Amino acid sequence: MNPGVCLRGTLKLLWFFAPASAVSVQKDNFRRLLRTVEALSDLGPAMTGERDFPQTARAMLSALQEAADAREIVLFTYSDKPSLLTSVATAGFALMPEPALIPLLPKHVHALVSARGPVVVSSTSYDQFLSSNGNVAPELFKCVAPLTVSGKLVGVVALGHRRDDSQFDAEELESLGLLCHYVALAVHNHMLTQTLAQRVSENLRMVASLHGFYDTALEAFAAAIDVKHVNIHGHSLRVARYAAAIGEAMELETSEIATLRSAGYLHDIGKVAVDKRLFGKPTSLNPEEFREMADHTVVGHQIVSGVQLPWPRIPEIVRWHHERADGSGYPDGLRLDDVPMQVRVVALADTFDAMTSQRPYREPITLGSALSEIVRLAPQKLDPTAVQALLVQLRRDTVGSNRTPFLEGTAQAIATADIDHLAASLQHKLSRGRLYLT
Ligand SMILES: [Fe+2]
Repeated sequence: MNPGVCLRGTLKLLWFFAPASAVSVQKDNFRRLLRTVEALSDLGPAMTGERDFPQTARAMLSALQEAADAREIVLFTYSDKPSLLTSVATAGFALMPEPALIPLLPKHVHALVSARGPVVVSSTSYDQFLSSNGNVAPELFKCVAPLTVSGKLVGVVALGHRRDDSQFDAEELESLGLLCHYVALAVHNHMLTQTLAQRVSENLRMVASLHGFYDTALEAFAAAIDVKHVNIHGHSLRVARYAAAIGEAMELETSEIATLRSAGYLHDIGKVAVDKRLFGKPTSLNPEEFREMADHTVVGHQIVSGVQLPWPRIPEIVRWHHERADGSGYPDGLRLDDVPMQVRVVALADTFDAMTSQRPYREPITLGSALSEIVRLAPQKLDPTAVQALLVQLRRDTVGSNRTPFLEGTAQAIATADIDHLAASLQHKLSRGRLYLT
């Protein structure tokens, strides 16, 4: 049973069984108490129900209106910058603008906070509490109930005429003050939530602009890394673009995609420490040269670990982008489960660009051959989910559904049917030839 209904029943019974001589004396008090309890029992669900604040405000106002037996009532919230009352719910007033706005001077705020409860106002006393500079005439109000929390004004409930046109007496004001205490908490809670939501969105905007700034800076940095080694010109920029696009086809979150793009820009940063001669060498590297080249992962890791970047996974991606699922990679010889997904995506983007770009020791291979090789290397060395996503992006290029083409230019053409064939081969490998009927 609704506790409010139960309380109302109990009070009505007490009233019924009271001695006849006391009834007339206690009648008004009982009625007032009954109304207060009813309003309190209505306020609970009104304040805690799952609805938006305007609905909650209307429900609270309706409970207050019943309790105060008021014909007209309005609930204002207060903001201090600028110092303003703004109506959020109103009932009974014939000409109340929506929203009704009342600017407050410091003296009004002080008077409302000092009132410590509802006060009766008249045409000669309202200006202690409210200014007449808003879009509503304060003369309409017969009673003003400040809503305060921890000594701070959060809103005002203003009442107009009562249904029987009588004045509010002291006990009624006390009951109204009790109810307004709960309304004040609800208003305060709403305003805190709003402020929090505003702060969160401001922070997100700041983070987004910060990411944008980093993105631009890193892009320029990547171009600088690649320029040093003329033979891999544009490699880091392309790896960033490929890694982000593969992540997008894998339906990763925006922050993960930003990580992949930034990691792509920085993955070869350690190459700044590698002898420039090795990049132009037309033959294979000897073991010592290979070790020096392989060290770019460790050097890069040392460089980015010392920088506070907004993407915490960058150092491990820089260190492990040459690791392979079968443990044959470097520098740590990690196996599949030890290599985070983001690292595997950048590794694939790096491999794909290495295969399709010109290198001093060989001509670039065709896109079809590169993809066949990549499919062959999955899952032993390359992540099959990432490879699948790479094929998805390339297929989108072939059917023209990519807003920004995955590949630059048209030189690297491949037929849609060939990509579908490669995707089917990959699937066949992964299911080990098993057939699944659907
Ligand atoms: Fe590398």
